Amino acid sequence: MRALTWHGKHDVRVDTVDDPEIVNPRDAIIKVTSTAICGSDLHLYDGVIPSMLPGDILGHEFMGEVVETGSASTLKKGQRVVVPFTISCGGCFHCRITQYSACENSNPVKKQDMSEKLYGHAMTGIFGYSHMTGGYAGGQAEYVRVPFSDVGPIVVPDHLDDDTVLFLSDILPTGWMAAENAQIEHDDTVAVWGCGPVGLFAIQSAIAMGAAEVIAIDHFPHRLELAKKLGAKTINFRTTDVREALMEMSGGIGVDAVIDAVGMEAHGFAIDNILDIAKQTIGIGADRASALKQAILAVRPGGRVSVPGVYGGITDKFPLGALMEKGLQLRTGQTHTQRYMKDLLAMIEEGKLDTTFLISHRLPLEEAPQGYKGFKEQQDSWTKVVLKPGMMASG
Ligand SMILES: NC(=O)c1ccc[n+]([C@@H]2O[C@H](COP(=O)([O-])OP(=O)(O)OC[C@H]3O[C@@H](n4cnc5c(N)ncnc54)[C@H](O)[C@@H]3O)[C@@H](O)[C@H]2O)c1
Ligand SMILES: [Zn+2]
Ligand SMILES: [Zn+2]
Repeated sequence: MRALTWHGKHDVRVDTVDDPEIVNPRDAIIKVTSTAICGSDLHLYDGVIPSMLPGDILGHEFMGEVVETGSASTLKKGQRVVVPFTISCGGCFHCRITQYSACENSNPVKKQDMSEKLYGHAMTGIFGYSHMTGGYAGGQAEYVRVPFSDVGPIVVPDHLDDDTVLFLSDILPTGWMAAENAQIEHDDTVAVWGCGPVGLFAIQSAIAMGAAEVIAIDHFPHRLELAKKLGAKTINFRTTDVREALMEMSGGIGVDAVIDAVGMEAHGFAIDNILDIAKQTIGIGADRASALKQAILAVRPGGRVSVPGVYGGITDKFPLGALMEKGLQLRTGQTHTQRYMKDLLAMIEEGKLDTTFLISHRLPLEEAPQGYKGFKEQQDSWTKVVLKPGMMASG
């Protein structure tokens, strides 16, 4: 089959690789009909996530048709399913309390020295996301093996097209959990850093949860425009002092909750960020957390900090004092995707969430390398790329 493979920093290629096979009775094989490129994939593309190997198949946002099932799968051939990016067994301690992204049984890699040293625990399995998360082949491919297919995938109705439901695999639940982690109450003012797909869904979710005001921060005019269309006020961090503007917009108190939908590759020319960019470039492993640092300083005392943005290692000059002295609450994590998929599907069906407004490009799988390049280098206009393995390549 054809699949998008990682070969190093800014080097991804569509190669012919072996077809996946059923390995365990609970597996299913999915023929991928749509798969998206995520901001998290850019961290792999930029080479800042450790334990990638040349030839690894990328992709954790995908859906398709069930073509083969193991003897213990509950799926049936021909069903159309969306697959969550987190791989979870459904039966361990964490799965039973719906902390699916902390599943203890889905990472088969024996040697977990790196994550045990870095995090104190091994990571949960994630599709197409390095050997620290299990080394699973991802879904930016014609076919993919889905472990625990009786727990993760949800069957979607035929009247909803792929574009409408695809983002149940990650960014929609991620935006929703980000807003939930911000513990939004009516009358709250919430500020969201980053108007990429995750930030945009966090904005939409915060508004759906009753936030009185949502303020979106980015530097790309078109992305800020999308946030505005959802009902957010906007701040361009290149032209405006973010903290000053937020203080003014919140009556001098600071916003009630902040959401960091940027993660470990923050843009910008704050002095700490320039140093972090230099350190990341020469491989001494510091996450660029300038958006998170700014968020912690901008939130009001007693406020809430929600971090859907991905961080991988350690970060310098973290304002721990502000976190403690202001009495802030911090919630974060890879999304417990399976917890949210059904409810969010119902909200899509009821027309309560718009899931397609952010798609800027639909490309054949063969053009995935151009998709990565565009999503990385032209973020303003490339807001979300959906790859269609069945689509004919242009030219
Ligand atoms: N927790 C999870 O389970 C989960 C799931 C999906 C994605 N993520 C993470 O969420 C983050 C966002 O993902 P995405 O797909 O929206 O990515 P993206 O790269 O498309 O968007 C990031 C946005 O942040 C903006 N930005 C950069 N620096 C900024 C700054 N200093 N202040 C304000 N905005 C700034 C960029 O201009 C861009 O628009 C990534 O770190 C991704 O890995 C986490
Ligand atoms: Zn993703
Ligand atoms: Zn589990």
